[in-house]
Amino acid sequence: MFSMNQKLHDKAIEVLNKNWKDGFTVPCEGLYPFQWDWDSGFIALGWMHIDLERSFMEIKSLLKGQWSNGFIPHIIFHNPADTYFPGPEVQASHLSPFASKIPTSGITQPPVLGWVMGEIYTFAKADPRTLPFISEVYDAAYRAHQYLYTHRDPHNEGLVYICHNWEAGTDNTPVWDAIWETMDSPEYELERKDNVHIAASHRPSNREYQHYIHLIELFKSWHYDDATIAAKSPFLVQDPLFNAMLIASNEALITLGNLLNKTAEVSQLKKWNTLSKLRYEEKLYDSDLKGYVYYDLRNNRPLRHLSSSSFTALFAGIPSAERASEMVSNFQGGRFSGIDNNLLLCASFDPESEQFDPKRYWRGPIWINLNWLIYRGLQRYHQDTLADRVKKDTLHLMEKYGFYEYFDPRKEEDALLTDGYGGANFSWSAALTLDILNR
Ligand code: DGY
Repeated sequence: MFSMNQKLHDKAIEVLNKNWKDGFTVPCEGLYPFQWDWDSGFIALGWMHIDLERSFMEIKSLLKGQWSNGFIPHIIFHNPADTYFPGPEVQASHLSPFASKIPTSGITQPPVLGWVMGEIYTFAKADPRTLPFISEVYDAAYRAHQYLYTHRDPHNEGLVYICHNWEAGTDNTPVWDAIWETMDSPEYELERKDNVHIAASHRPSNREYQHYIHLIELFKSWHYDDATIAAKSPFLVQDPLFNAMLIASNEALITLGNLLNKTAEVSQLKKWNTLSKLRYEEKLYDSDLKGYVYYDLRNNRPLRHLSSSSFTALFAGIPSAERASEMVSNFQGGRFSGIDNNLLLCASFDPESEQFDPKRYWRGPIWINLNWLIYRGLQRYHQDTLADRVKKDTLHLMEKYGFYEYFDPRKEEDALLTDGYGGANFSWSAALTLDILNR
């Protein structure tokens, strides 16, 4: 490893060690002081390079929060902390008859678990601890998929829905703006804590938070009952990132299930996956925009915007080679690179849109986990020059600014700025840098 990379490598390890809390890793001290579902998946990929046992522990800790119906919550409140809103008392998971003993949220996040298990297995199969670990957590991962296909796909389309913007992971993407217009959320007085840590202009607005909390209040009043949520939630969306992750996780669980002789599970996973891939292609691709878009299941309409989620189908191996090259035209003299190549890859929302905001969370800034997924997707489709560019841009950001949460995609700003945006010492930025450097 070159010495600059060695320095970056050492700093990334330092961040993970600092954020390790005896069994799991917080995404960011103060700002996110608990365990988050998809963060844990990316973080486990960092730990696997430096401490395999910790990557196993990360996943086992996550599963302590799994509900008896297979559902994996997006936050596990292992520990008390008063620096985050909405905490366990607001999310009130005990209202569900299926809730775990540990308090959790009652919403989920992109289903990373199966796919992360596949990555760990591929990396560490020679280690005698690896297969026993996979075998120990396999059934829990399978049950999480069973939950999604049973309760989140009311028309048996093979595409599961999310019912809250936080389930997407891309919390305040402008894609939701059209949904908020359909809702008449109360004007709650909220004691937000995120804005104590981070400039308000870099976070979601107060009005957006009122919608987020209104959805949680509705779900609580329905005891987090899936059938009621499917029938009544004003937010019900088929998300290209969430479903790509599910497909990638199905694929990994099929491979791992074959190793473990899980015949019935493998056969069911194959059925789910065949349908999911087919419907994903048919329903979510927008040939004018050259990318996959969200579908608003409540209001029966596609939400026709490109975002970094539009390209995650690549890492799950969903599109044909022709469609993949059509999509990546967005990265070469296209919307996401800038016609004169003035953007770092990859903005989280369409830089040509009026709703693009290069500083505000998921309305434009670059996020390292999405870059990592796009990088792997481009490699899968042998788009090596572009993959190298995503890698180069990612490492540039990490070296220049450190392991921040998100970054400005404009090269002219990059020349002036000294800091990244959002939380500093952000765990998945460090973990995925380790993975990129070790690959
Ligand atoms: C937050 O609080 O911003 C989190 O992203 C919710 O999961």
